[in-house]
Amino acid sequence: MADNKLTTRTGSPVPDNQNIMTAGKRGPALLQDTWFLEKMAHFDREVIPERRMHAKGSGAYGTFKVTHDISKYTRAKLFAEIGKETPLFVRFSTVAGERGAADAERDIRGFAIKFYTEEGNWDLVGNNTPVFFLRDPLKFPDLNHAVKRDPQTNLRSADNNWDFWTLLPEALHQVTIVMSDRGLPKTYRHMDGFGSHTFSFINADKKRYWVKFHFKTAQGIQNLSNEEAEALIGKDRESHQRDLFESIEKGDFPKWLMYVQIMNEEDAASYHINPFDLTKVWPHNDYPLIPVGELTLNRNPENYFAEVEQAAFNPANVVPGIGFSPDKMLQGRLFSYGDAQRYRLGINHHQIPVNSSKCPYHSYHRDGAMRTDGNYGSTKSYEPNSFNQWQQQPDFTEPPLAINGDAAHWDHLEDDDYFSQPGNLFRLMSPSQKEALFLNTAAAIGGAQQFIQIRHIRNCYKADPDYGLGVAGKLGLSMQVVNDFEGYDMRKITTI
Ligand code: HEM
Repeated sequence: MADNKLTTRTGSPVPDNQNIMTAGKRGPALLQDTWFLEKMAHFDREVIPERRMHAKGSGAYGTFKVTHDISKYTRAKLFAEIGKETPLFVRFSTVAGERGAADAERDIRGFAIKFYTEEGNWDLVGNNTPVFFLRDPLKFPDLNHAVKRDPQTNLRSADNNWDFWTLLPEALHQVTIVMSDRGLPKTYRHMDGFGSHTFSFINADKKRYWVKFHFKTAQGIQNLSNEEAEALIGKDRESHQRDLFESIEKGDFPKWLMYVQIMNEEDAASYHINPFDLTKVWPHNDYPLIPVGELTLNRNPENYFAEVEQAAFNPANVVPGIGFSPDKMLQGRLFSYGDAQRYRLGINHHQIPVNSSKCPYHSYHRDGAMRTDGNYGSTKSYEPNSFNQWQQQPDFTEPPLAINGDAAHWDHLEDDDYFSQPGNLFRLMSPSQKEALFLNTAAAIGGAQQFIQIRHIRNCYKADPDYGLGVAGKLGLSMQVVNDFEGYDMRKITTI
């Protein structure tokens, strides 16, 4: 290295980085050792808040390439023509564990993609599952409190976790996936990704479609059994990070094929499933997968903290041609992410290079902590103005969305079909997959109190009698015990 000088943060040479300045050979330290003070003060502030969920993650850069034309559905420029490439950054994550948790845990995996398009960043902040535990965002903090550590013991608690899940029968679909063989992917490369919510596409004629996004792994699905994961964690807590980093480093670039499901706007009202219910999928027979393109990861970040830890994905970041939907969960997320990032990273987190758009961006936001881009210099800082500076863009207005109904805290009980889709999923499983589901469920719920186990068995039974019987069998419970058990609030579940 040409310049090998150690300096302070302002560039002065550091004469001694081994010995603190003291009064005499054996005397106390002197306050005037400002290098020591600077070094220690910086160290004391090295840790930033971790993400509340999805704290442990791995990231990589890559490209999205269009292979099929879907421009009749969306004016989004990244889909404008076959062959078009858009740079992107992906962060995968586990959800419940903290920043130091082991990777190979049974959990959902986050699959967050930031497309750096020419009309701004599009963040598709999805998971490796097509559905979620909840369909109302008001319950999201409770979900996280239930799956994270107990307030007294500071331990993960099967009681808390399963008490909450089983009180929400709409969670069974997601719980079934997490307890299935797919609930413990071998690596981030060997799992699919989903936008999960219903979003909207707007085309050049301002027609709206409802859309769901899917990413199918080209590496094939590979999972770990509980036993394999236990053995792996004993040797390597960073197995996902290691796998992703090393694969990319040696030129084995992971790839996913992107598909969409498209629903006409007007069909939403009459489709037999509420298309904005995040606990439900759209069956592929009704809405087939339409191929769109390929996502490839081909470059590791240079610096984990700068690029992965400080990455900020926000479902509110969309681009012209892509919009939201009435999905209540999505609506709740539109507030939560930016709010969390203003706390975690600060108001100007969009300037951190991994987050910053690759196209020009001209808002009138000014000032704030850690403003580092020159703050738009002497340009006007208000709009409207008489100088034709940065005007609003009415061409990009979305078509109006028809809404009706009375404002109220509507419950979801007009749709109490909690069990058809988890039942269908169960019936699709091979005998060995069913066996794995029973075993994984029993291992996870085994530490919970019996009344909670029984509530889960009853939920499973409603989805498919064999599902309930299988879980009961692995827990050593007879259906007689399950049937006879009373003395707790079954909420809306009737007896079997
Ligand atoms: C991370 C909130 C549901 C996927 C986060 C963060 C918050 C949050 C506050 C941390 C953000 C940060 O500090 O940068 C919520 C709320 C939800 C919700 C309030 C429901 C109302 C979901 C759903 C999905 C999802 C349904 C997937 C379909 C993710 C992912 C991350 C994340 C992948 C990590 C992003 C990254 O890698 O930085 N969520 N979330 N979340 N969430 Fe959610």
